[in-house]
Amino acid sequence: MSATILDGKTLGLKIRESVKVRAAAIKDKGIIPCLAVVLVGEDPASLSYVTSKEKALTEAGMESLDLRLPENTSEEQLLLVIADLNKNDKVHGILVQSPVPKHINEERIIAAILPEKDVDCFHPVSVGNMILERPGFLPCTPYGVLALLREYNVPVSGAHVVIVGRSNIVGKPLANLLIRREYNATVTLCHTGTKNLEYHTLQADILVAAVGKPDIIKPEMVKEGAAVIDVGINRVPDASLPKGYRVCGDVDPAVAQKCGFFTPVPGGVGPMTIAMLLQNVIEAAEWRLK
Ligand code: GUN
Repeated sequence: MSATILDGKTLGLKIRESVKVRAAAIKDKGIIPCLAVVLVGEDPASLSYVTSKEKALTEAGMESLDLRLPENTSEEQLLLVIADLNKNDKVHGILVQSPVPKHINEERIIAAILPEKDVDCFHPVSVGNMILERPGFLPCTPYGVLALLREYNVPVSGAHVVIVGRSNIVGKPLANLLIRREYNATVTLCHTGTKNLEYHTLQADILVAAVGKPDIIKPEMVKEGAAVIDVGINRVPDASLPKGYRVCGDVDPAVAQKCGFFTPVPGGVGPMTIAMLLQNVIEAAEWRLK
């Protein structure tokens, strides 16, 4: 039997349409939902991500305040930009694209964003609220993964979810969300210190790869019929293509022959991250109204 594709592009568009309706409703009350998108430097992948985010915001009838700062922006200058955005009542959300240049302390920048405007859910207060199940934004990529699993009725309650990768953006928050009673999964979190990775991945009913290394999850590491979620977006040099690279995930495409569900790259988790970001922005704007 062939695997079911978890189509993040289609679900992402559906969510963006619902955000558009909410944006129109709040506009009638005089509020234009606005996200400030800050990019420091010219990393090509980051530039492409922020451009996609800005385009999606505009398409949903929201405002995107695009701030492009030069690579040599100092930490103090960036902190001043954040302070201004915190004070600006027209701005409902603030996103600083990660990574920032090495001379800037990213932790300090994130900590400077008001948690009420932290639509990425990166601020320590936002992360604490998420873990304690208090009101607040949910982090976009994990939230997108959960939405995909729900849309396709992948059984999560009681399932063994194995996550590979302990990043602050994906692995750690996703593990925390999945152990909530509402999801009720049993979670194993693997990382570079894990001995015998394959032993663990083979146990997974749902396997999440969030490592950032091309094709490291091979068919022999996956249980027959498992759901495989590929969070990786890797650029691999390919001179035969006009762009000079191709995009691939953390999962070897041959896994599709063996699993029950899988997310394509591109078109799986990536578009879901953007859709959930938009959903957080509209929620931020709606909270303002209350
Ligand atoms: N870099 C990679 N993913 C993300 C994200 O979701 N938000 C931000 N701000 N930076 C990122």
